[in-house]
Amino acid sequence: MNPEALRAATPDATSGAQEPRCPFSQQPAHRFPLPRSHPMNPPPAYEDLGSEHPVRRVVQWNGREAWFVTRHADVRALLMDPRTSADAAHPAYPAQTPALSIVRRDYQVFAQMDPPHHTEERRLVGEEFSVRNVELMRPKVQALVDRLVDRIAARERQADLVEDYARPLPCEVICTLLGVPEQDHGAIQDWARQISSLGTPQQQAADMIKDFCDGYLTELVRRKAADPGDDLLSRLIVNHMKPGRITERKVVSLARLFLTAGHESTTGTLGVGLAALLYHPDQLELLRRDPSLIRNAVEEILRFTDVTHSGRLRTAREDIQIGDVTIRAGDAIIMHQPTADRDPAVFEDPHRFDITRKNARLHLAFGSGIHMCIGQPLARMELQIAIITLVQRLPGLRPLVPLEQLPFHTGLAIYGLESLPVAW
Ligand code: HEM
Repeated sequence: MNPEALRAATPDATSGAQEPRCPFSQQPAHRFPLPRSHPMNPPPAYEDLGSEHPVRRVVQWNGREAWFVTRHADVRALLMDPRTSADAAHPAYPAQTPALSIVRRDYQVFAQMDPPHHTEERRLVGEEFSVRNVELMRPKVQALVDRLVDRIAARERQADLVEDYARPLPCEVICTLLGVPEQDHGAIQDWARQISSLGTPQQQAADMIKDFCDGYLTELVRRKAADPGDDLLSRLIVNHMKPGRITERKVVSLARLFLTAGHESTTGTLGVGLAALLYHPDQLELLRRDPSLIRNAVEEILRFTDVTHSGRLRTAREDIQIGDVTIRAGDAIIMHQPTADRDPAVFEDPHRFDITRKNARLHLAFGSGIHMCIGQPLARMELQIAIITLVQRLPGLRPLVPLEQLPFHTGLAIYGLESLPVAW
């Protein structure tokens, strides 16, 4: 590890507290998360964590320790390993944000369950997100994209692609799918953001979740139960809640999951992905000249941006051996897929952004194994339509400030941009 990274990574020796140490190297355990040194790359110290030992100890923001896994092969294998558990009720489960800790405890859904409960619950909604059903949404998504691009094109040749595009689009798509009324979309954006924020204090997070889940979403579910429409929430209510297979609280919990999981991650990927293209003008030009590259460009954007930078969180159900390390049953594990997706053993020249990269699709940005992202067909479609439409409708699109001046936010569970000023 380079000395600068080690200094940044080492817990503050002046705090007086007993320093947690890695049992193998006897070095101080690293903090997680660490700051980035380049806004488009994961912190370089994470790569070094993997090179000394296949896994290392880190100290999370709440002071608790976890194993930290960074190699592509190890992350992929662990994500598919039935000896790991995604059960967020486990006392050692790694904490993401104060609000996520509360919703995961009080509004449990399949994303934080193990089989057989995970399998049963995921099956209830699996068909809704199948490639076939998502394809049926294509005209609707294209219409939402066109409406936003029309608004941008009507401006005085300048816009903020986060405020005007990356933030509203995923919210409108997921709200349309779920049947959330248009006048509430702005409030949904605010709630999703607060839930994914590390900065929301515990009590404020608890009050906000009560408002969102027990207040707004419960009301919405009751209104739909009385007057069902042609949307995902109404289908859950009619097909599963009314026959008594799931409770009202479960429908509320699933709505919360889709409205947050299906939203911030796509916003982050679209914002940072557009920035990746704009600040690599050769790649933007390639796409402009050959729009058929869009599918592969989106896979490279997913690999390169990998916005769920809190990593994949699990606990070990049994002892698991990785190289010279035994992860003990009950230990917390953080698998850092943004670093795994820069593993030179899999991706040649991994920090290069290359929309023609042959194996970009091997990325782990949607995870792997039984918890692999259920919304990936929808996310892929949104990203492909949003990016190619913008690039074709606004030739001459260019960034207005140098990359170093872009406001990336690090205090959210999902990486992203606060704004992306452009001209054309
Ligand atoms: C670019 C956008 C997206 C990214 C990068 C992303 C990333 C991920 C990742 C990494 C996981 C695995 C979690 C784990 O293993 O612990 C996941 C799971 C999940 N995602 Fe996404 N996601 C995106 C879009 C969406 C969308 C549009 C939805 C729609 C509702 C969605 C819903 C979910 C759900 C429900 C799960 C839990 C699946 C399970 O545990 O079985 N995601 N996502």
